[in-house]
Amino acid sequence: MKLVIDTDVGIDDAIALLMVLAYPELNLQAITAVAGNVSIDKVLHNIAVVLDVAGAPAIPIYRGCAQTLRRRLPDDAAHIHGEDGLAGLARVATTRPVESGHASLALTDLARQFSGDLTLLTLGPLTNLALAIRLDPTFLSHLHRLVVMGGAVEARGNMTAITEFNIGADPEAAKIVFEACQNLDLAIELISWETTLDYAMTYETWRNLIHSDSPTANFVRALTDFCEVRLAPLGYTRLFWPDPLTAAVALEPEIVQREELRFVEVEASLGPARGQTMVDYRPDGVPYSNTRIIRQVDEKRFHQLLRLAINQS
Ligand code: BDR
Ligand code: CA
Repeated sequence: MKLVIDTDVGIDDAIALLMVLAYPELNLQAITAVAGNVSIDKVLHNIAVVLDVAGAPAIPIYRGCAQTLRRRLPDDAAHIHGEDGLAGLARVATTRPVESGHASLALTDLARQFSGDLTLLTLGPLTNLALAIRLDPTFLSHLHRLVVMGGAVEARGNMTAITEFNIGADPEAAKIVFEACQNLDLAIELISWETTLDYAMTYETWRNLIHSDSPTANFVRALTDFCEVRLAPLGYTRLFWPDPLTAAVALEPEIVQREELRFVEVEASLGPARGQTMVDYRPDGVPYSNTRIIRQVDEKRFHQLLRLAINQS
């Protein structure tokens, strides 16, 4: 499988990257950075740090959008992920280079180069993708699969009461992407915040998964100890893994046990519903669709993939 990851690393993005890097026989073509959880400079650095922790070979890293389509900077999520986006663990040097081209151009080039064969996994706001669509309107038609972490499909949000972060951080971008898929034979494979909640785990389950003493396990243990300290006062008593769950679907489509094909529209007006993903659930609703809402996955296999990611040496 040929894969590209667009990400705003982030604690759970980091674990998703480790999962992909540990996966056998994978062809990771590039990682593109987008501002989201933290600023673009921090995201670029964090990607390199995670590659170093995993002992990964050289993988092209591209700088993407530092700003959302409409506003100067996205609302970040540093209060969850730490000021550096990686629980303070990113304060280390790395020598990995950043490629000279823009992430959106790299995305359009790679999609054409591997037309019909490329899976694009997105773990952050959809700004780079929206720009790629505007640069090359055929961009999405070249993809084999588009797997997206984002959206609150039953209006149970995490950024606002009804809005999920990756969509709410740049609603205009998300709107462009969902609208573009409407006219294509490419349904977005969507892992929503609600599906993420269904696969939340206790800290006890998590600690059993990360039993090893490998550098990756030690890194991940420090990330999640930090999560516990940050999330408990907010009332979150379990761990959520939106990006790793989405990576698992990208790596193994057969992990999906139940999904629904629906039409999803993004609200981008400036009112209280800004960033909402509105799903048409009517049996006699619109006669087209753009999204496969992933409802259920093989949880045992998801945990195996997490274990594989973390316990590598
Ligand atoms: C998404 O928002 C980010 O903070 C996480 O990395 C994940 O991609 C969850 O809403
Ligand atoms: Ca993310």
